[in-house]
Amino acid sequence: MDARKFLQFLVLSFSVALVLFITWFHLPSLPNNDSLLDCNIFSGWCISKNRFGSSTKPNLIKKTPSSTNNNHKHEYDVPHHPLDPLTINEFNKVRTILSTHSLFKSSSTYTLNSVVLEEPDKKLVLEWKKGDSLLPRKASVIACLKGVSHALTVDLTTNQVISHETSLVSGYPVMTMDEMQGVLEVPFRNLEFNRSIAQRGVDMAEIACLPISSGWYGTPVEENRRLIKVQCYSKKGTVNFYMKPIEGLTVLVDMDRKEVISISDNGLNIPMAKGIDTDYRYSIQKLNGELRLFNPISLEQPEGPSFKIDGNLVKWANWEFHLKPDPRAGIIISQAKVQDPETSELRNVIYKGFTSELFVPYMDPTDGWYFKTYMDAGEYGFGLQAMPLDPLNDCPRNAYYMDGVFASADGTPYLQSNMICVFESYAGDIAWRHSECPITDLKVTEVRPKVTLVVRMAAAVANYDYIMDWEFQTDGLIRAKVGLSGILMVKGTTYDNMNQVPNQEYLYGTLLSENIIGIIHDHYVTYYLDMDIDGSDNSFVKVNIKKQETSEGESPRKSYLKAVRNVAKTERDAQIKLSLYDPSEFHVINPSKKTRLGNPAGYKLVPGATAASLLDHEDPPQKRAAFTNNQIWVTPYNKSEQWAGGLFAYQSQGDDTLQVWSNRDRPIENKDIVLWYTIGFHHIPSQEDYPIMPTVSSSFDLKPANFFERNPILRVPPNFNEDLPVCKARDST
Ligand SMILES: *[C@@H]1O[C@H](CO)[C@@H](O)[C@H](O)[C@H]1NC(C)=O
Ligand SMILES: *[C@@H]1O[C@H](CO)[C@@H](O)[C@H](O)[C@H]1NC(C)=O
Repeated sequence: MDARKFLQFLVLSFSVALVLFITWFHLPSLPNNDSLLDCNIFSGWCISKNRFGSSTKPNLIKKTPSSTNNNHKHEYDVPHHPLDPLTINEFNKVRTILSTHSLFKSSSTYTLNSVVLEEPDKKLVLEWKKGDSLLPRKASVIACLKGVSHALTVDLTTNQVISHETSLVSGYPVMTMDEMQGVLEVPFRNLEFNRSIAQRGVDMAEIACLPISSGWYGTPVEENRRLIKVQCYSKKGTVNFYMKPIEGLTVLVDMDRKEVISISDNGLNIPMAKGIDTDYRYSIQKLNGELRLFNPISLEQPEGPSFKIDGNLVKWANWEFHLKPDPRAGIIISQAKVQDPETSELRNVIYKGFTSELFVPYMDPTDGWYFKTYMDAGEYGFGLQAMPLDPLNDCPRNAYYMDGVFASADGTPYLQSNMICVFESYAGDIAWRHSECPITDLKVTEVRPKVTLVVRMAAAVANYDYIMDWEFQTDGLIRAKVGLSGILMVKGTTYDNMNQVPNQEYLYGTLLSENIIGIIHDHYVTYYLDMDIDGSDNSFVKVNIKKQETSEGESPRKSYLKAVRNVAKTERDAQIKLSLYDPSEFHVINPSKKTRLGNPAGYKLVPGATAASLLDHEDPPQKRAAFTNNQIWVTPYNKSEQWAGGLFAYQSQGDDTLQVWSNRDRPIENKDIVLWYTIGFHHIPSQEDYPIMPTVSSSFDLKPANFFERNPILRVPPNFNEDLPVCKARDST
């Protein structure tokens, strides 16, 4: 080949390579077997504009959905809305102001357990409108000094601490990540602990330990100090160390002095579980051959998502709300408003909604287990435990990600990246439908697809994972959903088969694998729902469904059901235990806002599958978690009553719970009220929960009830084939 020919050849091969490369670049979304698809790839239908960032519409969403949010420079964040979380600048300012305060100047050892925005008074926030100057910014600080909890308010305009109180109630603040980590090394400074590990033949280098909140039981050792229990596992041969407990070895640690107080060691006869096949990672599982059960799947939005996120303000379809990450609650939804299709007016539904507290009691009263009665929000910080979401798998490809900016123990801000995702969900469900059957001679079929907006977070509180969703529907319904996955907390045992177990009741659970018992436990998730239906003054109405017997000769029927409305006057009227045989609907109404027909505008709380705590009310964990004594409560709005297990839930004694507040029996009729609802789960583990649990979920709904004049989504169009991003499976037509 001469030089010229060689050059031609080069150019040609390069062009071919380029074409191949471009083609390949446009193809990755297609499955290998493209004959299944009727899909014009070059018209771009299959190519999500989000993914390639070529949206033609102006779009406030800066991030491509399948990437992370890491390019966002939080250093330059400025607050735009009175409820916007503290910015990096503001966190740094708080630190500077505190460093000159007498409390911190004189002490070298203090911990900032919480630094968050002190939300302005509700009245001021409600009056604030876009374009108004921002309300004065304040920070609410909780600090721990020499075992005393301090609550301070820092004014970021005057650069001063404007209030300072020490706690009058029992308990301690949420632990910091540093504190949780710091206690884990303490057992290793103890010879007795080391000896016990050696005696069990466990390799010191392969130990993983957990900080376990110790609850409160009223014993002298618990007085005036913060305690934590440490239990350990072997991670030899698996990342799923939870399945290899070093059973019976519990170290009681003084959290502040970082000292071992005592060691309880009674499981020497229990063999270490082998942990075979417990690793759940894809990289390990695929070695045994993949189990491909379905073709690749994804929701495409060729015109981009239909929501807009401006700072912390989310606008989608007929909804608008403020969304922010919180170290304790996880997600806070504020000022959720829905548009009325008749008037186009944005109408208030919720002023503020969040997960207030969790309660997770294990049902094993023995030495190494009785204290496991977690309150995950108030002890560990539900938001602090919210791990970065995994794009494509935690949230679909069309998701937007939001970071949390939180303060570490010394007040320095840090990033909790990809903590929350927001996406539109289309599960193939139906929003409403009707078709006429042929006997009426009317040819009518009208169906509307259901698309919703989901706000999601996943908190991994050590072994357990909580998937927390707020889902907004166009018909005005809001669904709060809890999904439970992750790994069971298991107990080591000598048994390796049920035929060795004399009495199953005293296993406290289910034998899941050789030498492993999944212990029975409950989960309770309590929601704070400050409902503001068309304004703050609302009433709570129990619409009781009662059997009415007919009188003699009145009707061929003997009985029917009627609805009896009872407006709750005081808090006790709204302490509700659910019952199938005494059913009610639970409405929050605005008594001064009526529909055209005279019904009060309202929303109803619709419970889903749930469970009630059956523990003795005097059992110490139940006293601390007395907010689970009822499924529903209503309290008058009070800025200081937000955390159902108390502001200081760690080692609390139950003197600052929702039960205590509600027992004041204050008036709640036609007042600014807060609705509380608890989702509960009883969990008797089964073998399928091993080595990692398929998600179990439950939810409740807030559903319009005479809020709109009629079905609010009558005018929504159906799907038309020509509007859709194609990729239609040929064999489905
Ligand atoms: C316990 O073992 C660890 C790890 O081998 C070691 O670093 C530590 O010094 C030991 N503690 C005592 C008190 O001997
Ligand atoms: C508000 O809540 C705090 C804490 O429970 C309580 O001390 C105070 O009395 C409450 N105020 C009213 C008006 O109920």
